[in-house]
Formats: sequence, structure tokens, C-alpha cells
Amino acid sequence: MSQRRAPIEIIRFDQVSLGYPSGFPVLYNINCTLYSAGFYFLTGASGAGKTSLMKLIYRDVKPSKGVLTVFGRDAAEISTSELPQFRQRMGLVFQDCRLLPHLNALDNVALALRIAGMDLKRARNYAKELLHWVGLGEHFDFLPASLSDGQKQRVGIARAVITRPLLLLADEPTGNVDDRAAYKLMLLLEELNKIGTTVVVATHNRALVESFSHPELHLARGELSFNCRQSEHDGTAQNMHARSRAI
Ligand SMILES: Nc1ncnc2c1ncn2[C@@H]1O[C@H](COP(=O)(O)OP(=O)(O)OP(=O)(O)O)[C@@H](O)[C@H]1O
Ligand SMILES: [Mg+2]
Repeated sequence: MSQRRAPIEIIRFDQVSLGYPSGFPVLYNINCTLYSAGFYFLTGASGAGKTSLMKLIYRDVKPSKGVLTVFGRDAAEISTSELPQFRQRMGLVFQDCRLLPHLNALDNVALALRIAGMDLKRARNYAKELLHWVGLGEHFDFLPASLSDGQKQRVGIARAVITRPLLLLADEPTGNVDDRAAYKLMLLLEELNKIGTTVVVATHNRALVESFSHPELHLARGELSFNCRQSEHDGTAQNMHARSRAI
């Protein structure tokens, strides 16, 4: 009889709060564990703290209180010099795309593979394949300034997934594309998830959340609640507390 392997913790929030020095507290007493190969939606109104929660995970900011463990390490103890290596296992899709303006679409996507040591020709071939997949086969040599917001977003997704990261953090990855393209991009993220990547997608798109039966982390008033929904990843996702307590 086949035995189910125990899920591996990738991210653990232990009573984590975040307040920016110049502003109000944003996240309160978050308690949550995300497991390897899980697929999670992160939802909440504009300003609820979705981007902030992702920034905590890729250690752009540190918790004001509590302990956040990512890949088994206390994120607050990761030094600036260790950050590139720490983030190497992550794919990041930024809400504002952040493509390099002087590189065309192809080289923006190929860059991650070049940094990982792949030769230029192979890296560009992989990048071409992926750009075709996201519907940008005609736009390889376009600079970001000549792409629409939705096209930039698709380049950003291709760039983030090309290294097959252990963890993908996608912040509003479909915010600027039409429903059909959004659905197709989600299928790409699901493919990545099937080969073992833990995926976190922040989105406002309710229809998208309803179309895919993945667990939902919902932020409201700084608190995180967890809706496990009907998921093929049942057993790989759970929350420590159904609702985090306000501090
Ligand atoms: N660097 C910062 N300094 C001070 N306050 C900040 C900073 N970044 C974000 N905030 C505040 O934190 C709160 C949450 O912002 P965040 O960007 O995480 O929300 P969000 O859920 O991603 O919103 P959206 O859906 O609009 O992208 C907001 O009230 C915002 O003003
Ligand atoms: Mg945001």
C-alpha cells in the first residue's frame, strides 16, 4: 500500500505582525503554515496587506513582531549579503512587473537562466518557448516600454517561472490581462505547481479564485483567515489557527 509522504513546511508565520516605520500597523499576529507543493490564493481588498505579506516572505521587510520561517530559516536573521542566494529558490512576479528597461522581452526572461549559469543560446531557446506559451511569440525583441501592461505582466510571469523555482510568489499576476489570458496563465502556474513548486497568487479576481479550487488565505483588518476549500492539495495545506487573533 502506498504511503502518503508528510508535507514539508516551506513558510511558517508564528505570531507575525508588520508595521511600517512611517505608517500604521498592517498585519497583526499572523499564524499560518504553507507546505511544499501547495497552491494558495492570497486575497483581500486593496490595501489589505497582500503585497506586504509577500514582501515579508522574500525578506524585503522584516516582521515587527513574531517569527517568520522561510525554507527553514528565520527570515529576520538573513543578512543582506545572503539575500540573492536566499531568493534564488524563489520566482517573484511583482505587481509593477519590474522588467529591466534596456533588455528586450526575450533577454528579460532569459536573464534568470543566465544568472544560474546557462549559456546564452540555450537560455534564449527556453525563454522563447515560454514566451510563446504566454502568447508573446511575436514580441521577443520588444523593449518593455513598447509592451502593454498586460504584455509586461506576461513577460514578468515567464521570467519568474523559467527557473522552476521551489516557491513562486505572484502578486496580481493577471491584473492587467483579459479573462481568457488570466485563465491560461493560471494553467501555467498549475503546471509548475504539479512539478513541485509551492505557488502563492495574490489576486482581486474573485472569478479566478472561484474557478480553481485552491485554499484561500484572506486578509482583512490586518488579520489572516484561511479557507481550505475543496482542493486536490488537501492534506498539504492547513492553517495553525483558523483565524489569527488581533494583538
Ligand atoms: N513602504 C511603506 N510604508 C508605509 N506604508 C506602507 C508601505 N507599503 C505599504 N504600506 C501600507 O500598507 C498597507 C498595505 O499595503 P499593501 O501594498 O500590502 O496592500 P495590498 O493588499 O497589496 O493592496 P493592493 O491590492 O492595492 O495591491 C497600505 O495601507 C499601505 O499604505
Ligand atoms: Mg498589492
